[in-house]
Amino acid sequence: MMKSSGDKMRVRKAVIPAAGLGTRFLPATKAIPKEMIPIVDIPMIQHIVEEAVRSGIRDIVLVTARHKEAIENHFDYNYEIEDTLEKKGKQELADLSKAVGKLCNLISIRQKNPMGLGHAVLCAQPIIGNEPFAVLLGDDLIDSEIPCTQQLIDLYHEHQASVVGVMEVPMEEVSKYGIVGGKMLSERLMHVSHLVEKPAVGQSPSQFAIPGRYVLSPTIFDCLKNTKSGKGGEIQLTDGLQLLAERERLLAYQFMGTRYDTGDRLGFIDATLAFALKRPELAPGVRELMKKHLK
Ligand code: UTP
Repeated sequence: MMKSSGDKMRVRKAVIPAAGLGTRFLPATKAIPKEMIPIVDIPMIQHIVEEAVRSGIRDIVLVTARHKEAIENHFDYNYEIEDTLEKKGKQELADLSKAVGKLCNLISIRQKNPMGLGHAVLCAQPIIGNEPFAVLLGDDLIDSEIPCTQQLIDLYHEHQASVVGVMEVPMEEVSKYGIVGGKMLSERLMHVSHLVEKPAVGQSPSQFAIPGRYVLSPTIFDCLKNTKSGKGGEIQLTDGLQLLAERERLLAYQFMGTRYDTGDRLGFIDATLAFALKRPELAPGVRELMKKHLK
């Protein structure tokens, strides 16, 4: 069936780049992918996939690498575990395992060398084609009533323009992020004219940082192909976005929600405590433990 051009401009797929080496979590990441490290009992990447699914996306493109097969296995059925649990009458646990298998259609593509986040996104082009798509980075967990990706998709559909999710950071932290600059259109929405990767304090165009949520027009692929590699031969997504801002309208939206940097050890502990305290069966025990350790 032919699709109308209106259909084409709807966001139906998400890309999750997961081909990085995860060196900040060594030695844990020597033999297991960083994305499989759990926040309480749910692997980081499942939180990210669930955000995409809650935003109406079923087709997830995983940009993966050697030794990361555990991620694909996680989103499949595990007959051995599920059958054994069912035979033992532990249906609830079997269903918990099966539900992850049913979450989404995972479509994998390899990034053969870790040549940067921009390059990882470019690897998804054969699967995405000429459609807008969401990008979610696994290191950023965003806790919000309306999923962050849903907030950005709604804006993409309304404005037919690419949108990056941003959050306000203290001036002394701008050098840790990609920062956007441009004209505010409303309290939370900016028309982006330029982006700077990790600016020095005092040279930042704003305090709006990009943590890792995007909805992009397919023009980004052409921009990334024309992006020169920077430090360490890596192609930066921020540089590709700068070219995109010069060719098309690019918006930045200060999303609603709490963001945890789970790629950082303290951020990871912060997320673990916050998510454990949200679980009624764990919260009282966790509070007791915190009291004990703070004595
Ligand atoms: P990071 O550089 O933060 O993650 O990339 P990393 O390489 O996994 O971890 P560290 O810094 O060595 O500890 C941000 C995201 O982009 C992906 C990563 O998997 C991560 O989700 N990425 C990065 C790729 O897919 N390919 C790359 O070449 C680089």
